[in-house]
Amino acid sequence: MVNRHIKRRPQAAPKMLVFQRNAASFPIVMPIRKSPEQATEEIFDILTRRGQEAYFGEPVSQIEHACQSARMAEAEGCDEEVILAALFHDIGHLCALPNEDEMPGLGILRHEQVGGNFLSKLGFSEKVCRLVEGHVQAKRYLTFKNQQYFEKLSEASRQTLSWQGGKMDADEAAAFEAHFLFELMMKMRQWDEAAKEVEQPLPDLEKYRQMCLRHLRRHSGMYLLHAAA
Ligand SMILES: [Fe+2]
Repeated sequence: MVNRHIKRRPQAAPKMLVFQRNAASFPIVMPIRKSPEQATEEIFDILTRRGQEAYFGEPVSQIEHACQSARMAEAEGCDEEVILAALFHDIGHLCALPNEDEMPGLGILRHEQVGGNFLSKLGFSEKVCRLVEGHVQAKRYLTFKNQQYFEKLSEASRQTLSWQGGKMDADEAAAFEAHFLFELMMKMRQWDEAAKEVEQPLPDLEKYRQMCLRHLRRHSGMYLLHAAA
């Protein structure tokens, strides 16, 4: 029933792969991973190029919402992984390929998974990716635990909830509470809902760019810059 109104977009081109030969000349298929510099450039290009778009049904832009979320994480003394997760928690709405399903007027369906996968491919740590993936589950959890929470949600957030699976049931909620990032996911949700203040100046993005670069240099491990011969 939920999928009845999903708008399907044209299929995207297949992912690019590098074919590398080992010493015995057997082909090995390896995914390309961008360098920390390339990955930082890519994600900030998306954030700044598409960040002026409206944050679905809310009075702020995408980039205002992202930066306000990150500043709240900073204000609470969180580490850089949490700050980056807050900054990029909705990147799935902006980075989605044309074949992703959409919620009409409300962005990309499963944007939290799209965003988590995108960050993972760029080399972000598991903690960042899991926090991004969890911010929608936190809403589903809170609507199960507290009826008043549902009533306080914005109209847009209530509408997306039904697309996102609605309230958790008791088993889902128990499993979610046991997640190793449960407390931080609750925080992410809190910032997500509060980061809708109008006419707040944007911070200097260079600070976040450097934070992102530091993080990727620390966590992205080995990567391939060139197609193998
Ligand atoms: Fe958000």
